[in-house]
Amino acid sequence: EKGGYEHFMLKEIYEQPTSIRNSMLGRLNTVNGEVVMGGIEEYEHKFMNAKRIIFVACGTSWHAGLVGEYMIESLARIPVEVEYASEFRYRNPIINSDDIVIAISQSGETADTLAALEIAKEKGALIYGICNVVGSSIARATDAGSYTHAGPEIGVASTKAFTAQVTILALMALTLAKKKGSISESRYRELALELNNIPNIVEKVLETNVAVEYISDIYKDAKNFLYLGRGINFPVALEGALKLKEISYIHAEGYPAAEMKHGPIALIDADMPVVAIATKKNSYEKVVSNIQEVKARNGKIIAVVTEGDTAVKEIADHVIEIPDVDDFFDPLITVIPLQLLSYHIAVMRGCNVDQPRNLAKSVTVE
Ligand code: F6R
Repeated sequence: EKGGYEHFMLKEIYEQPTSIRNSMLGRLNTVNGEVVMGGIEEYEHKFMNAKRIIFVACGTSWHAGLVGEYMIESLARIPVEVEYASEFRYRNPIINSDDIVIAISQSGETADTLAALEIAKEKGALIYGICNVVGSSIARATDAGSYTHAGPEIGVASTKAFTAQVTILALMALTLAKKKGSISESRYRELALELNNIPNIVEKVLETNVAVEYISDIYKDAKNFLYLGRGINFPVALEGALKLKEISYIHAEGYPAAEMKHGPIALIDADMPVVAIATKKNSYEKVVSNIQEVKARNGKIIAVVTEGDTAVKEIADHVIEIPDVDDFFDPLITVIPLQLLSYHIAVMRGCNVDQPRNLAKSVTVE
């Protein structure tokens, strides 16, 4: 059942080239590069006239929502908000019929997310679901939606469901941008074809496993970890920290890299490993200077960098090299070594990786 892997989590990490491909199947036409999302077609008028899109979710699914915010705002130019379902539902939120409220949920059973949707429905919003489990409560409650098709996720720590959610959000952003006319035909095609190639890139990123295992052994006894990222990789920093906390029980925090100087920098010393996502993207130079600030205080840097990088290599303690992809798809590949890092550290600490203490796969009570 674990397909030769020691744990479901590792199996599911390795399934990602396939699960991402399955999320795109029937939606991305690889011949002409056209993206068709049935759920959006059905409510095209609503989507085209939406004043706002609001994502409601919890945990890892909320992190996917943050990635979706970057994608949809920059490509489709529709304002997006991302809300913790548990906060949204009790705030008497201001929602009207021009809003689209999108729930993101692997299980489709998360109590807070379901309740948030019901409130949005009462207030007249179109409600949409991005769920993995077919026929789940959230999927049934929505007006329309897109299943992620990641296949069953057994490990409590979400891995392939996250990348499937991000894939759906990328497809939605492309579809909406095309319909809105906010993207050029050539850029649209370029992004669609690059997205189509992401499963092959993920396959290559999985080859970092040996390097990541080596690094894990060095830092497995750390008491704290800090994760830094900027832009579309900020949510990946949050996700990396959450993965480490939940399965290895090491305290970890994710931060937008520039926020470090507003407080967390006080924590930096030789006992504080800092995982920095420093791929060659818009904010690369700024992340490099954040890494220098950490090094100046004797912090240890584990950096995820673009293949061929030299600047970070010179200053970081360890680098994990991954292929270059368009900014929009970076989270699909930067998250992979962070999943592996938490996995190996947890195994080395003797933790129950697939069933961490105090956690359940679906949180059906608030
Ligand atoms: C993290 C994790 C949780 C879930 C959260 C939402 O690895 O598994 O944070 O992401 O409980 O669950 P779903 O997506 O089922 O609504």
